[in-house]
Amino acid sequence: MTIPLRHALTAAVLGAAALSAHAQVDQVKVWAAACANCHGTNGHAQPGMEALAGKDKDDLTQKLLDFKAGRKPATIMHQLAKGYSDDELRAIAAYFAAQKK
Ligand code: HEC
Repeated sequence: MTIPLRHALTAAVLGAAALSAHAQVDQVKVWAAACANCHGTNGHAQPGMEALAGKDKDDLTQKLLDFKAGRKPATIMHQLAKGYSDDELRAIAAYFAAQKK
């Protein structure tokens, strides 16, 4: 009976790993949802607003870090960007860059 038990444990461990990877993706979606009010669902903005979907990842990252540091003039984004760590901003930029235009 030891072998099936070991298999069961392995499956449980693998399952937990898959779950935590899934949770990370969902966390980015939660962050990105906070941008949807202004930039549209998944970065598909209404006309007149900056779309984020499919933009260059490095460019988005740089803009967000610049907003946060106050290097890029803004009415709103400099305050919003301060709510995230640099790594979180990188993850958000990567998320929007990966969306289809
Ligand atoms: C309350 C509305 C609002 C929300 C919410 C918002 N933005 Fe913005 N965003 C703006 C405005 C307005 C600008 C133009 C710069 C400014 O005036 O702050 C902008 C500009 C940007 C730009 C620069 C676009 C460019 O090409 O110049 C990026 C990148 C960006 N936002 C990303 C985000 C991300 C990521 C989030 C979510 C974490 C977010 N925004 C949430 C209103 C918003």
